[in-house]
Amino acid sequence: MSSFALQQTPAGLGLVWLEQPTMKPLVIDFLGGKQAFRGQQANLKDEAIARACGLHKYKNLTLLDATAGLARDAWVLVNLGAKVTLNERQPMVRELLADALQRLYTQAPEFTEQLRLAEFAELAQAPAKSFDVVYLDPMYPKGDRKQKAAVKKDMQMFQQLVGADLDADELLAPALRIARQRVVVKRPQHADFLAQRKPDHQIISKKHRFDVYLCADAGDTARVQS
Ligand SMILES: C[S@@+](CC[C@H](N)C(=O)[O-])C[C@H]1O[C@@H](n2cnc3c(N)ncnc32)[C@H](O)[C@@H]1O
Repeated sequence: MSSFALQQTPAGLGLVWLEQPTMKPLVIDFLGGKQAFRGQQANLKDEAIARACGLHKYKNLTLLDATAGLARDAWVLVNLGAKVTLNERQPMVRELLADALQRLYTQAPEFTEQLRLAEFAELAQAPAKSFDVVYLDPMYPKGDRKQKAAVKKDMQMFQQLVGADLDADELLAPALRIARQRVVVKRPQHADFLAQRKPDHQIISKKHRFDVYLCADAGDTARVQS
């Protein structure tokens, strides 16, 4: 079994894979490197994730990223106008997120309200109908072979730490309770539906599929883009 540690680095808190000492610590940095670039490049027209979440139609959506991970998707969604709350159960990943958010708030205080960590520790504690959108991107247990080969070093470290989310099917029911408007599930192209439940519609991108589950009272809460 692999072991990991958190270590302060000049760039911020970093995740270190103890069996791989030559690997660079994994640091979440919203304002630097690839993540910053991805956020800057994001646009409503081209991002399948934005269309799946309804960001092209509604403004100021509140979104719960219930499986935040390294918050790469969340950062894209924030840059496209969503107000995002992050939920993450892996304690080290949660610490990395907290550290990255503190650095973000210091350097760019305008994001303080746009991106934050959830106050509840588990989805079951989140109040019903408390977010417009709930976004789910659990680790896919079977692994996509094509994707596996292309996985970058930092993602290998992350996947090794987090492992497969074998209980992913259990996320859908609480997500549908928490969402006012829709639940969006990111899946590999050929994966089965989460909890074997057919979505209302799908947005297909080059690498992924977004399954969209609409909530009954969606019309009441949506704010139309002006
Ligand atoms: C594939 S990663 C998410 C990647 C993320 N979308 C990104 O862009 O960086 C899945 C994450 O969901 C977390 N997770 C899975 N099930 C969870 C649950 N029930 N509650 C909170 N976090 C969960 C895992 O610990 C893991 O960090």
